[in-house]
Amino acid sequence: MTTLYVNEKTGVDSSEVKGTEQEPFATAAYALYTSANDDSVKILVYKESDEEKKSDVELASSKDKPEVEYVEISASALKKAKKGADGLKKKAEKQAAAAAKLKEESLNLPKVAELDLSSIEEDKSLPKAKKIKLASLQENIGIRVLVRGWVHRLRVQKGLAFITLRDGTGFLQCVLTGDLAKAKQTQELTIESTVAIKGVISKLPEGKTAPGGVELKADFYEILGLAPGGEDAFTNKIQENADPSLLLDQRHLTLRGESISAVMKVRASFLAAIRRVYKEEGLLEVTPPCMVQTQVEGGSTLFKMDYYGEEAFLTQSSQLYLETCLPALGDVYCVQESFRAEKSHTRRHLSEYTHIEAELAFLTFDELLEHIETLIVKSVQYVLEDPVAGKLIEQLNPGFKAPQLPFKRMEYIEALQWLNDRNILNDEGKPFSFGDDIAEAQERKMVDTINQPILLTRFPVEIKSFYMQKCKDDPRVTESVDVLMPNVGEITGGSMRSYNYDDLVAGFKRENIDPAPYYWFLDQRRYGTCEHGGYGLGTERILAWLCDRFTVRDCSLYPRFTGRCKP
Ligand code: 4AD
Repeated sequence: MTTLYVNEKTGVDSSEVKGTEQEPFATAAYALYTSANDDSVKILVYKESDEEKKSDVELASSKDKPEVEYVEISASALKKAKKGADGLKKKAEKQAAAAAKLKEESLNLPKVAELDLSSIEEDKSLPKAKKIKLASLQENIGIRVLVRGWVHRLRVQKGLAFITLRDGTGFLQCVLTGDLAKAKQTQELTIESTVAIKGVISKLPEGKTAPGGVELKADFYEILGLAPGGEDAFTNKIQENADPSLLLDQRHLTLRGESISAVMKVRASFLAAIRRVYKEEGLLEVTPPCMVQTQVEGGSTLFKMDYYGEEAFLTQSSQLYLETCLPALGDVYCVQESFRAEKSHTRRHLSEYTHIEAELAFLTFDELLEHIETLIVKSVQYVLEDPVAGKLIEQLNPGFKAPQLPFKRMEYIEALQWLNDRNILNDEGKPFSFGDDIAEAQERKMVDTINQPILLTRFPVEIKSFYMQKCKDDPRVTESVDVLMPNVGEITGGSMRSYNYDDLVAGFKRENIDPAPYYWFLDQRRYGTCEHGGYGLGTERILAWLCDRFTVRDCSLYPRFTGRCKP
C-alpha cells in the first residue's frame, strides 16, 4: 500500500516531489491526483502539535523540539480531496489537449512555410524539356522547355512567384505556382541567383505584358546558385544614382544592367557590321602587334614599357603596320586596341580603346572621303537592320536618324570662319587664326549646332602628324580629315600618307623624331611607293553617338582612363 504525506506548510504540489515524509505534498487533492485517485493509497496529513502553536519567542526558550505528527486524513477531508483531484485531472487534461493542439499546429504551420524545394519532384510523365536560350522564345511557344539564367526581377506573393529570367540573350517571365511558389527557397530567393526552370511557354493573354509577349508556366525548377540577400544584396551594391566611380568599381556587376548590356550588344553588332562592310569593300582583316617601338600620334601620349630591357610602347595606332601590308595583301583593316596615355580627363578620351583602322592603296583623297562616309552609313544601316541591335538603339536613342550620304564637307579654314562669325573663341580666349587647334569644346559647339555629320578636311601641317600628305594646291595644309558627329565630335581621323621618301624624312625631322626605328616604314617608300591613305575610327566614340551615351566610358566593357585600371 502506498502512503503519501501531505504538509500544508512545507509541502509542494509538484511532479518533482515524491510525497514521502521528507518531501510531502502541499494538498491532499494533489496527492490523490498523482495516484490517479487510487483508493488503496493511504494519505497522512500533517497535524500541528500544541508545541508548535507556541510563539517563536517561546520556542526559542524551550529546550524541546516540536514533535512532527502525521495523522490519517479524515473522511470529509478525503471527500473534499477527491473532488479537488478530479478538478486537477480535468485541468491537466485540458492543458494537455491545448498543448497537443498547439504542437500539431506548430507542426503543420512550418510544414507549409518550410516546404523544401528539394522535396518537390519533377513530373516524369511530362514531355522531355527542350534546352533553349531566351533568344528563341517565339519559336518555342507551346513547347515544354528548360531555360537557365539569372533572376533579373522577382515578385513573390502568397502561392505565386514571378521571376523575370535573364540569360544574356533575352528575358522571360516565369510564373511559379503551388508548391514551387510556396517552397521555403522560393520565398527566400534573391535577385541575381541562377535558376533552371522547366515549363511550357505560352502567349500572354490580351492586356498582359511581359518581354516578348510570352510567359513560362513552371512545372519544375531548381536554384543553381543563390545570390546574397540582406546587406550584400545586388540591389544594395548597384544603386542607380550612385557615384559613377563606385559603379565603375562594380563594373562586373553593373554590366548586368539593361543599359550597359544593351550598349555591349550594339557594340557587337556594330563590329560585325563593320567587318561585313569591309568584306563588301574588299578589305582584308589583319592583326598588327600591340607592343611596338615606334610612335604614330606624338610622344606625349605613349605608354612606355620595359621590353626585355629595351624601351617599347603600347601601340597608339596600327596605321604604320597596316601601310606595310598594302603591297602584300592589298587594302587592309584591323580591329585592335590602341593605347593613349591621355592626361585629359574628358568624356571622350580613354587610355585604351578599340581602334578600327584601314589602309587603302591607289586612291585619291576624295575617294578616301567617299570610302569613309560609305563605311559609316552602311555599318550603321546594318546595325539598325539587326533585329536585336536595331531595337536596342530605338530604346537607347529614341528618334535616332540614320546618316545620309553624302556627308557635309567643310575645310578647316571654313570652320575657323564659322567659329569666328559666331564669336566662339579659341582656348586662349582669342578669335581663331590659321594654325590653331580647334579644341573639343569649340568643335562640339560647331557640330552640335550644324547637327549633321561633317567631314572636316585640310588641317594645317603643324597641327597634324609627321606622315600626312600635303595638299598639292596649298602645301600649308594636309590631305587630312576628321569625321565629326553631333554630341560626340570627332569619331574618325584619317589622311593621305606622304608617299615620297624625302617628304616623309622631312616630316620626321619637323616633328623631331629619330627616323632610325622607322627603317621598315621608310622602306615602304623605297620598295615601290604608291598613293595611299587610311583612317582610324574610335569604336567607343561612334557607339556613344549611336547609343546616345554621355561618355565613351559607357561604351567600353571595362573602361580604362586616367586613374582607372580596375576591375
Ligand atoms: O585621330 P587619331 O589619333 O588618328 C590616328 O591614330 C591615326 N593614326 C589613325 C589612322 O589613320 N589609322 O585617332 C583616330 C580615332 C579618333 O578619331 C577617335 O575616334 C579615336 O581614334 N581616339 C580615341 N578614342 C577614345 N579615346 C582616345 N583617347 C582616343 N584617341 C583617339
